[in-house]
Amino acid sequence: MKKLVWFVATLAMLVVLAPRHADAADYVGSKKCKMCHKNAFTAWEGSKHAQAFATMEKEGATGKPECVKCHTTGYAGSGAVTEDQKNVGCERCHGPGSGYMKLMMKKATYTTEAAQAAGLILPGKDGKFCTDNCHNSQSPNFKPFNFEERWGQIKHELDKPRAH
Ligand code: HEC
Ligand code: HEC
Ligand code: HEC
Repeated sequence: MKKLVWFVATLAMLVVLAPRHADAADYVGSKKCKMCHKNAFTAWEGSKHAQAFATMEKEGATGKPECVKCHTTGYAGSGAVTEDQKNVGCERCHGPGSGYMKLMMKKATYTTEAAQAAGLILPGKDGKFCTDNCHNSQSPNFKPFNFEERWGQIKHELDKPRAH
């Protein structure tokens, strides 16, 4: 019995101490995307997504995870919201950036497929990503969602069109 207890305890220790899986990407914050994506950053900065946390402050809801969860990026669901987690940032829609950003830094070898494998999300233009994640009736301020119309408010693209 004693042996079993030790075995279980050792196993638990190993699980706790094991390095994080190499593929698990971390959130880096929208500011990190700015230097290479000026067009997208400017469009985002001027959009309501960049004001989503100011809304929480106005509503006195910064301490309510049930509200904060949709008005932030990469928020774990409890505790204080860090500066980089405030607002609906780039990574809310494109996935945590630590992995794919490294690939983007080597433009010559960059491929969309490798970036997606490293965590990049391309939400597409059918609006499903938006309604599945945020623009739905769980939001107390839900307004009917039309992708075309809303994309018009946040439209952004690569600084340099792809050379194919
Ligand atoms: C060092 C520069 C650099 C940084 C930093 C960077 N990117 Fe990129 N990004 C690129 C390059 C280069 C491409 C590929 C452009 C091409 O194919 O012409 C790209 C492509 C993209 C694409 C299109 C992907 C595709 O293959 O269709 C998205 C979306 C994107 N980046 C989002 C982000 C986000 C979000 C961040 C911040 C977390 C970020 N990028 C940070 C350089 C960068
Ligand atoms: C399921 C995600 C979700 C949850 C949960 C959520 N919100 Fe929101 N909230 C949104 C979205 C999306 C919008 C933008 C609505 C639109 O324009 O369609 C929004 C907009 C708002 C607005 C209007 C801001 C403006 O300037 O137009 C207020 C106020 C607000 N939310 C407060 C709250 C409060 C308070 C809570 C918690 C009780 C909360 N939200 C929970 C997603 C959410
Ligand atoms: C609310 C969600 C949302 C946010 C926030 C957002 N994007 Fe996007 N992004 C999209 C959608 C949707 C598209 C177009 C469809 C697609 O490419 O999947 C797109 C397209 C792009 C593209 C062009 C991809 C291509 O191949 O043409 C780049 C680059 C990009 N985003 C970067 C960024 C950066 C950088 C930020 C932050 C400054 C950002 N995005 C914030 C949803 C978002």
